[in-house]
Amino acid sequence: MKEIEALAKALRNAKHVVVLGGAGVSAESGIPTFRDALEGYWSKYDPELLATPEAFRRDPALVTRWYDERRQKVLACQPNDAHRALVEVEAWCHEHASTFVILTQNVDGLHQRAGSKDVVEVHGSLLKWRSTRSNQEVEDLPIPFRTYPANAPDGGLLRPGVVWFGENLPELAVERVELELARADLFIAIGTSGIVYPAAAWSEVARQNGAFTAEINRDPTPLSSSFNMVLRGNAGEILTSLISEIRGG
Ligand code: OAD
Repeated sequence: MKEIEALAKALRNAKHVVVLGGAGVSAESGIPTFRDALEGYWSKYDPELLATPEAFRRDPALVTRWYDERRQKVLACQPNDAHRALVEVEAWCHEHASTFVILTQNVDGLHQRAGSKDVVEVHGSLLKWRSTRSNQEVEDLPIPFRTYPANAPDGGLLRPGVVWFGENLPELAVERVELELARADLFIAIGTSGIVYPAAAWSEVARQNGAFTAEINRDPTPLSSSFNMVLRGNAGEILTSLISEIRGG
């Protein structure tokens, strides 16, 4: 496909490559996306009842159980071709003296399990939980939790280390994102619907800072027309072809 060649060319010309990933990257691992009409989490559950600080205050047992079940699910899933190809893209970039970072909205840890080295979890992680009392992360958690809600050793409750609606992104992640968007010369958004801000704004920030921008997505998104190029299809397939193209060419 012509677009793969064009993206490979952009990669060869780039010095600072930034990938923004969303739920579509993990879809081929069997993890539901959020906005798929049939299987997406938000077509089955109301985010207001599960993914807000108010929801946790109202019903900590329900919210803890829901995130614990998601935690168990991701631990049972494996990285897919998209995760594996991105490990190779990172290695290729380093061989060619380029920087490469994945800004992921996913909370499943699959990029790290696949072997990616530089991953910024902009929406936090399902695998890290912290105390509501001290805000300290708690290690060595039982899987599953023994009670819902789950108690932290310091007397607080355990809450998932994810960003809920109405919460700020982690400070360190924000600093890193700003740095990367300022210097990116290639920005690739993969498997994200471009609806949730601030991440949805980042492709445009990068483009205005001079980056070439590409979208890889199975479906059109509200942002598709703002990218320099669009590759339509499954992330695993497209990224595997991209690797063949850059390794072969
Ligand atoms: P969404 O579920 O909103 O979007 C997933 C996107 O991936 C859609 O555009 C799909 O068409 C596309 N897609 C699905 N399967 C694909 C595949 N195999 N290959 C390529 N594309 C595919 O998920 P996100 O954009 O990640 O936030 O959602 C952003 C945030 O909204 C999430 O991080 C979460 C959610 O509410 C929080 O929980 C804070």
